[in-house]
Amino acid sequence: MSRKILVLPGDGIGPEITREAVKILNACREAGLDVDVEEGLVGGAGIDAHGVPLPDETLARAKAADAVLLGAVGGPQWDKIEDLAKRPEKGLLGLRKNLNLFGNLRPALLYPQLASASSLKPEIVAGLDIMIVRELTGGIYFGQPRGIEERDGEKVGFNTYIYAEHEIERIGRVAFEMARARGGKLCSVDKANVLEATILWREVMERLAPEYPDVELSHMYVDNAAMQLVRAPKQFDVIVTGNMFGDILSDAAAMLTGSIGMLPSASLNEQRQGMYEPCHGSAPDIAGQGVANPLATILSVAMMLRYSLEAPQLAERIERAVGSVLDQGLRTADIAFEGTAPVSTQAMGDAVLAAFQAQ
Ligand code: NAD
Ligand code: IPM
Ligand code: MN
Repeated sequence: MSRKILVLPGDGIGPEITREAVKILNACREAGLDVDVEEGLVGGAGIDAHGVPLPDETLARAKAADAVLLGAVGGPQWDKIEDLAKRPEKGLLGLRKNLNLFGNLRPALLYPQLASASSLKPEIVAGLDIMIVRELTGGIYFGQPRGIEERDGEKVGFNTYIYAEHEIERIGRVAFEMARARGGKLCSVDKANVLEATILWREVMERLAPEYPDVELSHMYVDNAAMQLVRAPKQFDVIVTGNMFGDILSDAAAMLTGSIGMLPSASLNEQRQGMYEPCHGSAPDIAGQGVANPLATILSVAMMLRYSLEAPQLAERIERAVGSVLDQGLRTADIAFEGTAPVSTQAMGDAVLAAFQAQ
């Protein structure tokens, strides 16, 4: 039976980059992958068409799909909407929550061809291969109570940083398994010197550790982790952390690989149903110009093949195709060498397609 994939291009550069990724997905079909690909609306595109960032129809189709490929959501034209529940970003958060996609994998992998595109010295980043495991459906993003209200004659804004043991345990297991399958090192990042929710986080990670004797568990405060990522990033193998810290650290890690335009992600639930998206946003500053880097989205398709569609060979074929276009010297503006003429989003997508088909 063919598997169902729902593509949600979203806003800003979203449609530009997903178009290139869908070309690769179609090439996978031609190579024997049995999938049906449909498109839907989310984010600002959902608001403009139906008045809501996550139309019921989109949610129903996402639930019925084996995997979702999402471009990006958001943009300045919707930033004036005061109610956060009606903003484009809520479409993305709603998909994550409703599909229970608690396990977010964000691999920061440096393609050797891009060592000089990183803002750090090549010797600091050469060989970099980190997996950030971010909890995605809990923590301060979803904690109650939250809001803005009047207190003592002024407004206060408040959010709740909360984690239940079962939420920590299930993301912990994803991270321990990941470390076991990789270099055997897991660094749990928290703020256990200040926040009770992360004291519990640390306790649960320690409790799990004896079940994974082959994994070396360490702990680090998030402020130090941010510094260490820039000072000596290769000390990390797998990092596990909560929703907000993971959001911030993964953008920092992205830059080690040359550009945020290189970082894919997978968001998984217990059934391995997944949503796949680049880590970056809708990049309003370059939207509509055809210059965005589509590689993070194309590499997200590779993650989809690996984690939801049991097609690891096709995943590797896509990753090799990306390596090969970088070998050819093709660069979008965000990863271009000084003095090299950058190629367009479409030219990059076409080159990956050609390299994929040439294998
Ligand atoms: P952003 O990631 O969209 O952009 C940050 C910078 O990186 C910009 O200079 C942008 O041009 C650049 N950039 C991002 N992706 C790129 C790519 N593929 N190729 C080349 N350059 C790229 O972050 P932001 O500016 O803080 O947010 C813009 C909007 O996107 C906001 O509405 C935000 O809420 C939303 N956002 C959405 C997602 C998502 O959909 N997953 C993620 C982050 C931000
Ligand atoms: C991301 C984004 C989202 C997040 C926003 C757009 C809700 O920054 O996917 O990294 O904070 O998780
Ligand atoms: Mn982010």
